[in-house]
Amino acid sequence: MAKPCGLMKPCHLVKPVSATRVSGRYLTHQKGLPSLPIPPLQQTCERYITALEPIVEVDELKHTKELLDDFQKAGGVGERLQSSLEKRASKSFQLSDEYCEHIEPLVLQNQLKYFFTSVCSETLPIEYLGGKPLCMNQYYEVLSSCRIPGLQKDSVVNHSKSSRPPKHITVVHNFQFFVLDVYNSDGTPLTSDQLCVQLERICSSSEQTNMEPVGILTTQHRDSWGKAYLNLIKDKINKKSVLAIQRSIFTLCLDGAMPRVSDETRRSSAAVQMLHGGGSQLNSGNRWFDKTLQFIVGEDGTCGANYEHAPAEGPPIVALIDHVVEYTGKPEMTRSPMVPLPMPQKLHFNITPEIKKDIEEAKHNMNILVDDLDMRVTVFGHFGKEVPKSHKMSPDAFIQVALQLAYYRMYQRCCATYESASLRMFRLGRTDTIRSASNASAAFVKAFDDPNKQKVDLMVKAVTAHRSYTNMAISGQAIDRHLLGLKLQALEENLSVPELFKDPAYGKALHYQLSTSQVPAKADCVMCFGPVVQNGYGVCYNPMKDHINFAVSSFNTCKETSAAQLAQAVEDALLDLRTLLEQTPRAKL
Ligand code: COA
Repeated sequence: MAKPCGLMKPCHLVKPVSATRVSGRYLTHQKGLPSLPIPPLQQTCERYITALEPIVEVDELKHTKELLDDFQKAGGVGERLQSSLEKRASKSFQLSDEYCEHIEPLVLQNQLKYFFTSVCSETLPIEYLGGKPLCMNQYYEVLSSCRIPGLQKDSVVNHSKSSRPPKHITVVHNFQFFVLDVYNSDGTPLTSDQLCVQLERICSSSEQTNMEPVGILTTQHRDSWGKAYLNLIKDKINKKSVLAIQRSIFTLCLDGAMPRVSDETRRSSAAVQMLHGGGSQLNSGNRWFDKTLQFIVGEDGTCGANYEHAPAEGPPIVALIDHVVEYTGKPEMTRSPMVPLPMPQKLHFNITPEIKKDIEEAKHNMNILVDDLDMRVTVFGHFGKEVPKSHKMSPDAFIQVALQLAYYRMYQRCCATYESASLRMFRLGRTDTIRSASNASAAFVKAFDDPNKQKVDLMVKAVTAHRSYTNMAISGQAIDRHLLGLKLQALEENLSVPELFKDPAYGKALHYQLSTSQVPAKADCVMCFGPVVQNGYGVCYNPMKDHINFAVSSFNTCKETSAAQLAQAVEDALLDLRTLLEQTPRAKL
């Protein structure tokens, strides 16, 4: 999920999580939420064609229409799959399964946020979107949970639901892991002073800097890590250490020094420290990337977090962080008990030659990935979400239209664009896709630099179309999860994959050269992530009242992309959109 990296919070307190967190009120709330709907087949087919129009060629579109006619004809495979899906309608599409099937390294899938230490309350207030209550489940999946590598597929374990939930965090310093109990024997959480004492004890007993970075194994491609994992936990001591990390409430990474950078690149450099740790020579081994939540504190006070995406989206993580930022700003009222604290327990690893080989391979691959990622964190300081609002426009739609304009100006074409839409109005809902490249946005961006065109009407239409797609997506009527569900259903029923899903246009539709996400936060921060395709961009943003924080990423090995250029093009596009609005009498909008 990058933020104005200026957010360097002093490391202090942690209010640990209560063990039993599933209250009756929470269950009643969850039960009252609707389950995810299955959209009508014909509606999805029609919307799919419309979504393809701005991104595929005319002859490709014609071919897809033929495939769709065949797919949805009476008695055809589409009908059969739709009816199977409807039978399962009470179950949600398991997006976490989709995440768990990814074999790419977790590192760039993960997200970042500046900050320091974690808190969660056991009965969180229910959140609302447009007056509708949201599913709160993701909040309860973030702590004490971990992704476990598998040979075929990964899984996620959540130890907070066990009869004896964990009472410790893991701390990693100089690649060495420690178990730190964060509760006193009387059940009260450690105070910030007690935590400082314990962290100092950890630091002084892990000064050795030539330790094997076992944690770097978690950066590997998932299939390699799945094999290396079995190898690692063959040893009983290793298995016990790994379990302690997996069970812990979260991981706190006390990082070694990062290279000094100029003020100009400080934000971007902090972002990559959170996202991948800077490579095997720096802090990439000072992590356990399978852990759902890792808080990271640099030697220079830079702080943030990294999270593993399978159990939750960015907004609950950011809400947690906002809560912590607010909490840590208040003075601590509790006095530290005068009882001696047990020494944090070091976790040992026996490194066999085979494990050593796996570590070396992971270091090599990680360094390639680190060298390849270009991350630019910028603050668009000219205006924030109040400007679009004052023109009666959705700020998110305004930013997405600016992104379309920026991309079009760089490439003279539109590309498949992903924006995450929350499905949390539904029980256990995760996300669907807002396809930001629409016919309306295409008409606008093509007209924008043509002095003879009436642009403002086209802009209003593009912004309105985006907001309509958003409304459709958050109410469970978008196309992507439905199409995925139909495809997975075919596989489950051992049917051959319908031609529709082998169509090059479907491949284009899923080749997101712009993968974007708004993660709003009260704290002045931004999340970041890598591109999802080799020749694409990752763009995350946090629109604040009077500025917008952006994190734009691309791969250095792709000659056609440049994070810096796109970041600049987005800034220009935002300014141009504002100018266009200012030149137009408000009554016309
Ligand atoms: N005129 C005036 N104000 C408007 C407006 C209009 N036409 N349209 C919207 N606004 C206001 C809203 O009321 C809101 O006000 P607030 O700042 O007081 O809350 C603000 O502008 C923002 O609205 P908008 O920009 O339209 O965005 P949104 O908050 O509705 O969010 C999504 C849109 C798509 C980001 C959101 O629905 C969503 O799904 N978020 C989750 C994304 C996610 O999961 N990301 C993480 C993936 S890891």
